[in-house]
Amino acid sequence: MSPNTLYRFYRRVTSFKPPKPTPTLPLWTCNVYGHTVSGDVSKLQERKNVSSNQVIKRRKKDRPPCPSVLSHFDKQYGEELGDLWASARAVLLDPHSWQYGVMLNRFSAVTGITQILQSQGFSSLLQQTDIPRLLCDGPSVVTNSKYKPEDNSLLQPHFISKCPPDDNTSHVFSQDLQFEPSLGLPHPSLQCYIHPHPLRFPSQTHRHGQLKQYYLLNAASLLPVLALKVRDGEKVLDLCSAPGGKAIAVMQCATPELLCCNEPDPHRRDWLSRTLESFLPPSLRTRVIVSAQDGCSFGQSEAGTYDKVLVDAPCSNDRSWLYSSSSQQGEQRLRERARLPALQAQLLRSALSAVRPGGIVVYSTCTLSTSENYTVVETVLNDCPEAEAEDLWEEIAVPLSKYFTFRPAPPDHGKALHKPSLQPHNGTVSPYQHRLGILVVPQTGKTWGPMFLSRIRRKK
Ligand SMILES: C[S@@+](CC[C@H](N)C(=O)[O-])C[C@H]1O[C@@H](n2cnc3c(N)ncnc32)[C@H](O)[C@@H]1O
Repeated sequence: MSPNTLYRFYRRVTSFKPPKPTPTLPLWTCNVYGHTVSGDVSKLQERKNVSSNQVIKRRKKDRPPCPSVLSHFDKQYGEELGDLWASARAVLLDPHSWQYGVMLNRFSAVTGITQILQSQGFSSLLQQTDIPRLLCDGPSVVTNSKYKPEDNSLLQPHFISKCPPDDNTSHVFSQDLQFEPSLGLPHPSLQCYIHPHPLRFPSQTHRHGQLKQYYLLNAASLLPVLALKVRDGEKVLDLCSAPGGKAIAVMQCATPELLCCNEPDPHRRDWLSRTLESFLPPSLRTRVIVSAQDGCSFGQSEAGTYDKVLVDAPCSNDRSWLYSSSSQQGEQRLRERARLPALQAQLLRSALSAVRPGGIVVYSTCTLSTSENYTVVETVLNDCPEAEAEDLWEEIAVPLSKYFTFRPAPPDHGKALHKPSLQPHNGTVSPYQHRLGILVVPQTGKTWGPMFLSRIRRKK
């Protein structure tokens, strides 16, 4: 990568003005079962017994859904999702039902936030029983971690990603214990709290020189990061990175040797830089860099460089498209929709060239659209004999099905795929269907998603 395309994320962003300090404001403003709760931590904890029948509605989204986008979705997703579409539609049309996850920032000096979340009915998304299967093949459970940022950290063992080496990565494994203490960082620990109800924790404003304690997100966004299985010491490329939620999640899971966050759009890149600055400590600033390239060029400029590449592709973001600011904007987006699969396939091909042999690429989108999901993966697999899709059903869908509604690839996909190992077997859902990718479909009570993810390994 040429130096003029690299920007250290701590580079001053000239357009960014840190907000004025507001010391007299309460630390928290939180809608708890419909009550606006504000005050300091101790006050919030005192109010933990708010009953659910005191619910009042969150402020409504002012904007109505865009009729042309909705009618397009009805036609396309009615056909593609069958019975699942009615419930997915109901969720998308009711922003009051949307759930939000709270991903903790392992780098911040968190004070009692876990207790606050638990007292408000939040629970950990990644249970102790899930983590060994999701983060690595055989993790260590560390109970004697020196870093105890949480008041209650003694109650919860920290999981760290001391995984057995992936193929060709023994050098990586041997490094992790050396540099982690020297950086003075807390152990990697991905912690996300979710609530059974659509309760939104207050977002934190940027405070100069202070790291944010948590990031609010659609919890399904963590699944591509889990599928990436980043380990300490790896070189990771986040090809389409802004605003940076998944980059922050990667940094909770492990301490890579390098995380290159790429974003070609200048405004979104500023947003990305601010996110990184708000969540990562100065000691990581030589390892996390921001790049401004077209993601399609990495395959050439950085061939075979990375252990892991995340392609969180630009897509027809169903939630935001449905609430387009005007019907003209909605119609314009629908016209551009047909061009997205070609760009997505180019980005995925570029990622498969940028990853080293044996490395893995995760492709993800936040749309339900088959042509941007399974079809893109299938097209690229057909072109790349050195690429092999991996099964995420057993690894991710099965352990997390209590939180998310997953759907494997439709059965008619892949008839033309020339990969013997992916050919359908007899049975209701073939291994082949699992391997093309899994789709999180929002459903009533499990409103996470849409999120599609597929993991592809470059064999040679
Ligand atoms: C779905 S968003 C990424 C979200 C991000 N990964 C996160 O978790 O916060 C897709 C991003 O891809 C960027 N993008 C669009 N065209 C691109 C290209 N040719 N190469 C790389 N990124 C591109 C968009 O500007 C957008 O910021």
